Amino acid sequence: MENFSLTRDELIQLTSDSFLITFYEDLNFEPTQFIMIETPTSIVRKPFGLGRWYGKLAIGVQVIGPGTKYIIEQRYLKAHGPCGKGFTPPSGKGAIIATPACLAIVFDMHRRFLCDVFIGSLEKLKIEVSFKTVLGDEEFVALLKSLKAYDWFFVVGSDQMEKVSYNLLKDKGQVFVSLNEYMACGVGACRGCAVETKNGLKHLCVDGPALRGEEVWN
Ligand SMILES: Cc1cc2nc3c(=O)[nH]c(=O)nc-3n(C[C@H](O)[C@H](O)[C@H](O)COP(=O)(O)OP(=O)(O)OC[C@H]3O[C@@H](n4cnc5c(N)ncnc54)[C@H](O)[C@@H]3O)c2cc1C
Ligand code: FES
Repeated sequence: MENFSLTRDELIQLTSDSFLITFYEDLNFEPTQFIMIETPTSIVRKPFGLGRWYGKLAIGVQVIGPGTKYIIEQRYLKAHGPCGKGFTPPSGKGAIIATPACLAIVFDMHRRFLCDVFIGSLEKLKIEVSFKTVLGDEEFVALLKSLKAYDWFFVVGSDQMEKVSYNLLKDKGQVFVSLNEYMACGVGACRGCAVETKNGLKHLCVDGPALRGEEVWN
């Protein structure tokens, strides 16, 4: 666990509110690990999943409030990490379902695990991506229903999208989700990110953020 500065290389707009930021610096991390980024808009740092974009360290940011707006405007960011437990999928064929803001995370996972990737977006992406992309809720649900059996699925996006995906995929393979609990310290010290699971209380910044869907939902 380190404190460090990150220097923005590229800011790539993906949709009207989602961006991908690449950095000059590099960092070793495992899939689903995240960094806590300092902003002047809050006393706590904010979590962002680590990924890569064509070899460069990268994060995706969906602008939803003052902290995320600040992050996409900066050339330099202060952060600590990598936080969280790395995700290792089971053996076999896998598929990832993600929103545009998670593109850097899934780009990295696709290269590591050679799995299929599906992006669900509310609007057309402003850049070309090699992953199948569906637009709108109806197409997204139709895609999930059309997917054949896989050995595992990994879903990363909003809580609502993850729950819908879990319900539609749970009979087709093992489903893992990256949960979006509020994080304050990111290192297991504040106990703020606790969630009840079928296997007891888990602190998502150290036990997650990826959990099996069946641990949290029926
Ligand atoms: C493990 C993890 C990884 C994440 N990775 C990404 C990512 O790769 N890209 C991305 O765009 N977003 C990611 N998020 C969500 C991101 O951290 C929040 O969107 C961001 O903190 C919002 O800050 P804000 O000031 O813009 O919004 P605010 O106006 O402060 O809050 C808006 C909403 O954002 C969420 N939020 C705010 N502060 C936190 C916090 N400290 N921890 C968790 N959620 C918070 C809450 O749901 C809140 O209602 C991740 C969250 C978690 C838990
Ligand atoms: S965020 Fe502090 S214990 Fe998890």
